[in-house]
Amino acid sequence: MKTNWGILACGKIARKFASDLKHVEGAVLHAVASSSWERAQAFANDFPATHVLGSYQDLVNLPDLDVIYVASPHSHHHEHTLLCLNHGKAVLCEKAFAINHRQASEMIALARSRKVFLMEALWTRFLPHYQKVREMIAEGLLGELKGVNANFGFKPVEPVAPRLFDPALGGGALLDIGIYPVFLAQSILGVPDMIQASMNPAATGVDEQCSISFHYNNGRSANLFATLASNLETDADIFGTKGRIRLTSRFYEPSATIQYYPGIVDTRTLVGVDREAGFGYQFEARHVQECLVEGKTESPIWSLDHTLDLMKTLDRIRTAMGLKYGVDEY
Ligand SMILES: NC(=O)c1ccc[n+]([C@@H]2O[C@H](COP(=O)([O-])OP(=O)(O)OC[C@H]3O[C@@H](n4cnc5c(N)ncnc54)[C@H](OP(=O)(O)O)[C@@H]3O)[C@@H](O)[C@H]2O)c1
Repeated sequence: MKTNWGILACGKIARKFASDLKHVEGAVLHAVASSSWERAQAFANDFPATHVLGSYQDLVNLPDLDVIYVASPHSHHHEHTLLCLNHGKAVLCEKAFAINHRQASEMIALARSRKVFLMEALWTRFLPHYQKVREMIAEGLLGELKGVNANFGFKPVEPVAPRLFDPALGGGALLDIGIYPVFLAQSILGVPDMIQASMNPAATGVDEQCSISFHYNNGRSANLFATLASNLETDADIFGTKGRIRLTSRFYEPSATIQYYPGIVDTRTLVGVDREAGFGYQFEARHVQECLVEGKTESPIWSLDHTLDLMKTLDRIRTAMGLKYGVDEY
């Protein structure tokens, strides 16, 4: 069975995603759309598509499209996802799903009322090593879960993409990369009972660095950190009363290795995971196709309620560290 994909916005991540569609059986790159026809054509030179379009409106007007991958900056996910849904098009929307919980709720309410498929492209949720970690925890290898420590840091190289620090484009460490440690902790430990957070602002006022603590009434905790000022190990520890899983490096990517420390001094095991060619975006794309074939309007694995919970936590973190975007006022 063929699935006709459209790509909305021809930036950096769209290139990786388009490249990974080659690893998805039945996936057809049917249309690519940019706000500039020249950029769409340049994209299509590398990733050929049946339709090369110079506007997002032309994309949503196409009759024979099964799903649109929204790859604009997070500031525009709300507008672009609503555009797609209002034209009855299924959507896989990049992370961060929106700027805030209110926007996310509006996007999800529209998808649910129109019964059109929508999913956040939280690709890590679909990666084999992450599934393996969940299995190991479910098998009881960590004993009683106690916490997660995770960090994500990179120093952007020149020329720095404007979206990384521009408040109008949802810039800042939390929504761009901090979302991964937050996702890891919340998906393993649950929604935190209490959050403490602080930030170091960049010159533009958005968070260049953010430090976050999650506290749970059941005795768990998480320490999470993200920075756009330095290249960090970007690793993670998930620990319990019987052992620890170390994810290195980078913990959110398919290249991550899993080390299991059973709690005996100097003892550790490297846990094998099947590897595939590609960047790793093929796993979420396959899942979207399966959902569409089965007539689902939401993912049973990364549901829209998961996305809402994640957005709510990101809002709580921003409140704690005093970071507001313009759209928070509406
Ligand atoms: N899942 C992942 O691993 C991953 C990795 C990186 C980024 N992302 C997410 O993907 C999204 C895009 O990131 P990116 O790195 O691809 O960004 P990018 O290279 O800057 O591309 C974003 C594209 O969005 C379009 N766009 C529409 N309105 C825009 C505006 N007002 N300003 C700037 N661009 C605008 C442009 O495409 P056209 O010119 O073609 O219209 C632009 O090329 C972000 O939400 C980011 O968080 C995810």
